Amino acid sequence: MAKEDDIRGNVPVNAENLAVRPVAPVHLAVIMDGNGRWAIARGRKRLAGHRAGVDALERVLEWCKDAGVKVLTVYAFSTENWKRPKDEVSGLMKLFSTFIRMKSRKLVHERIRFRVIGRIDDLPPELAADIAKLEKETASFERQLVLAVSYGGRAEIADAARRIAADAAAGKIRPDDVDEALVGSRLYAPDLPDPDLIIRTSGEQRISNFLLWECAYSEFYFTDALWPDFSREDFDAALASYATRDRRRGGHA
Ligand code: FPP
Repeated sequence: MAKEDDIRGNVPVNAENLAVRPVAPVHLAVIMDGNGRWAIARGRKRLAGHRAGVDALERVLEWCKDAGVKVLTVYAFSTENWKRPKDEVSGLMKLFSTFIRMKSRKLVHERIRFRVIGRIDDLPPELAADIAKLEKETASFERQLVLAVSYGGRAEIADAARRIAADAAAGKIRPDDVDEALVGSRLYAPDLPDPDLIIRTSGEQRISNFLLWECAYSEFYFTDALWPDFSREDFDAALASYATRDRRRGGHA
């Protein structure tokens, strides 16, 4: 058994243990794509698709609990999404605020740690303040919901590099100290395990600047379902597919 699998509570898949104990990802990440197409197909505004996307997220969070997934990270707004029409951007910001205000009690009640990764300073100040408050309130909980907002994988790595350069300039570290562990320690949520499985909905098959550093050994699952239509069957199919993967992480079998 690989050491990491042991620590993370996973077991390697073989005919015997698959029947006894399905292997769930510890950390599931999702690119929630297809909200716009879902709305347009119904003659509605794109924002209606994002609203339906929030409902889908709530359902998936529930299914994660059933499946034993400990961390759910979702790509809610990328650094590139700022280029979208103003009303869509402001609608999404309002949706994030409403979500935090309406769901904070439920998250606390369900003991779910809430956190945001991304360039928080880009967000409207009231939203940033609500995020900080809920992050603090839920900091001690084990299960986690991580929202990637104003997030870009390249931005995350660049931000880590900037902090490392500042420490080097201040004489706190030497160039020789820079290794993968040090870079990893300067990411937005350095304590999180890397995502085991990344699901992308809507038929697109690309990473779109999501968790670039963290996805080095992630498994991928693509489905044609648009995010608001992502069903329990789709979720179960993704996890069943994951359970069959042979995760060698560059090592031998
Ligand atoms: C991509 O679909 C989706 C987004 C850019 C936003 C995702 C946001 C949500 C699901 C809302 C999450 C909200 C909270 C409160 C957590 P798209 O709009 O690019 O769809 P398209 O490719 O069909 O146009």
